[in-house]
Amino acid sequence: MTAALVPGSFDPPTKGHLDVIARCAGIFDRVLVAVVRNPDKSPMFTHDERVDLLREMCSEWENVEVGSFSGLLVNYAEDQGIDVIVKGLRAMTDFDYELQMSQMNRQLSGIITLFVATKPEFGYLSSSLVKQVARLGGEVGEMVPKLVLQALEEKLER
Ligand code: PNS
Repeated sequence: MTAALVPGSFDPPTKGHLDVIARCAGIFDRVLVAVVRNPDKSPMFTHDERVDLLREMCSEWENVEVGSFSGLLVNYAEDQGIDVIVKGLRAMTDFDYELQMSQMNRQLSGIITLFVATKPEFGYLSSSLVKQVARLGGEVGEMVPKLVLQALEEKLER
């Protein structure tokens, strides 16, 4: 059985994330979307809120599940019996850091990372920009799934 781990902060999940997950759902038998629990960061959405949003976003795929991890990603991958990590690449600006992380993860564990190029129309998208634009009253409806838009509006009390 082929399996892939799709990790991230997902604060909040965007259409770019969904695009990568959808590609994986069509390629791998099992896809585990893994939300990092990072006590150092102060996210807009709680860890549980992000997991719930992703579960709802991914409910159409029987082979996609959502989990969470803290500590080293490769330890979680090993615990789950998964030896492929998948990350989306938007642009060359992502590449240096993603390459470095993938090589570190491979060095630590032998687990490899496959990169999926995001759709060009999502190349400009990032969770942090979505949050910034939404906070400042800009329109982000094209960038996130409907349920995430609703969640953003609730957070920002609109
Ligand atoms: O959504 P992001 O911010 O691109 O996700 C980054 C993430 C969560 C995949 C990365 O920070 C990570 O793997 N964190 C877990 C800690 C870890 O394993 N660090 C060593 C990475 S080389």
